[in-house]
Amino acid sequence: MALRLGVNIDHVATVRNARGGALPDPVRAALLVEAAGADGITAHLREDRRHIRDADIDALMAALRIPLNFEMAATAEMQAIALRHRPHAVCLVPERREERTTEGGLDVAGDAARLADFIAPLREAGARVSMFIGHEARQIEASARIGAAVVELHTGHYCDLMAEGRGAEAEVELSALAQGAALAHDLGLEVHAGHGLSYDTVGAVAAFPQVMELNIGHFLIGEAIFRGLAPAIEEMRRHMEAAR
Ligand code: PXP
Repeated sequence: MALRLGVNIDHVATVRNARGGALPDPVRAALLVEAAGADGITAHLREDRRHIRDADIDALMAALRIPLNFEMAATAEMQAIALRHRPHAVCLVPERREERTTEGGLDVAGDAARLADFIAPLREAGARVSMFIGHEARQIEASARIGAAVVELHTGHYCDLMAEGRGAEAEVELSALAQGAALAHDLGLEVHAGHGLSYDTVGAVAAFPQVMELNIGHFLIGEAIFRGLAPAIEEMRRHMEAAR
């Protein structure tokens, strides 16, 4: 089964916002990503608007031909925005203001009744609803129970362990992710994965047969500084395909 690549463009908006102006434009980056053959664009409208802003979402919805995966916290404000735009996909993520990036997975099991109600109108609006979670069985089972279509498994811990040279612990984490992917697939969920992936770590995750989509941002935008967005994406694709 072909593995899709979604590219997260939040990091372009982070650079733009550092100067408070209009450049670099994340929509221009998204169009280059599209031209480079990516399957989707991911953008996270955070509550504090620290990178992507409302106007970026408007512009992305108008400009993109490939699907937008709209990442958001499970708040009433974000739900209203998603229902207004009706993006192809909505990925629910936990949000803590003080974090630098999305540090952990969503606690679906601990908030199941509320999340079931929260996602119902999104599903009715036609969005493919995804839960960004860790590999714990209870989170995967709860995601299936509340009617999510997709789980995106958080690969950040695995990538951190690899970066720190803690290979044995990374293997344990990888094997837990593999088991999580298998369980999610058995429960009828579509399996995605992402966070922190690079050329060094993508292959091990792309090798899980159940994974249908990877969402990758920070590494690709960083790599684009040195070699351009399209070559960076093309090489990521090569790593992904080599692992299948
Ligand atoms: N998937 C989700 C749900 C995320 O929140 C992020 C980070 O915004 C990513 C994937 C991509 O992570 P990274 O930017 O580290 O590649």
